[in-house]
Amino acid sequence: MTLQHAHTLTKAAVLELSGIEKIYRTDSLETVALANINIAIEQGEFVSIMGPSGSGKSTLLNVLGLLDAPSKGVMRLHGMDVTKLKENAIAQVRNQEIGFIFQSFHLVNDLRVLDNVEIPLLYRKGLSGSERKQLALEAVQQVGLSSRTKHFPSQLSGGQQQRVAIARAIVGKPKLLLADEPTGNLDSAMGDEIMNILHTLNREHGTTIAMVTHDERLAAQTDRVIRIFDGQQVA
Ligand SMILES: Nc1ncnc2c1ncn2[C@@H]1O[C@H](COP(=O)(O)OP(=O)(O)O)[C@@H](O)[C@H]1O
Ligand SMILES: [Mg+2]
Repeated sequence: MTLQHAHTLTKAAVLELSGIEKIYRTDSLETVALANINIAIEQGEFVSIMGPSGSGKSTLLNVLGLLDAPSKGVMRLHGMDVTKLKENAIAQVRNQEIGFIFQSFHLVNDLRVLDNVEIPLLYRKGLSGSERKQLALEAVQQVGLSSRTKHFPSQLSGGQQQRVAIARAIVGKPKLLLADEPTGNLDSAMGDEIMNILHTLNREHGTTIAMVTHDERLAAQTDRVIRIFDGQQVA
């Protein structure tokens, strides 16, 4: 066994990126959004990703979450090379393993809270309507919004809307949660509520979390900070 194999066996990396590069090409312009990114995120870790605006944080999170394919490099999820998977296999892995939270919540405005939370389960085979509803109720309860299941997003505060988005992200019990500036649109009290929920998911459910943030105070509450500048990792 090589040293590298021993390393991957003992450390149980959820995600391993080696030599990841992402280039966006539009007309005449080429943007190197990520260059030679090498990251391993271990099971149960809560990491934050920091860097100036335009440095590649969202691109990195989208690559981590299989929303966007890298231009170069290898990415392994639980040891499996996901850069080789076909689009429908990627969609399935994404749906079962990964939950997303965005700065602007991305809720469906004409669906009630419970129906928003159920959405990821609609893509799961073998779940009945009542099983979906039960799981959605549990997720809503986990974020403390059981009294709001029939509300529409517009009837909720920003912090409550983000809690609905978290419930939707965790309803399928993903092992990995990715959050792109989840507190960026919230005041600090609401932001702290969101952080408390993330910490609980990490500690009590063992969910691995990667969170982009501009806030050094929030980053300091996480296990480790990955810093990006101009698409490159900085020490
Ligand atoms: N879909 C895209 N097409 C072309 N360029 C993009 C696209 N998304 C991001 N970029 C460019 O890639 C760089 C990194 O963007 P991004 O990852 O959004 O940065 P951050 O999240 O750190 O603000 C920026 O220069 C941005 O303009
Ligand atoms: Mg961004």
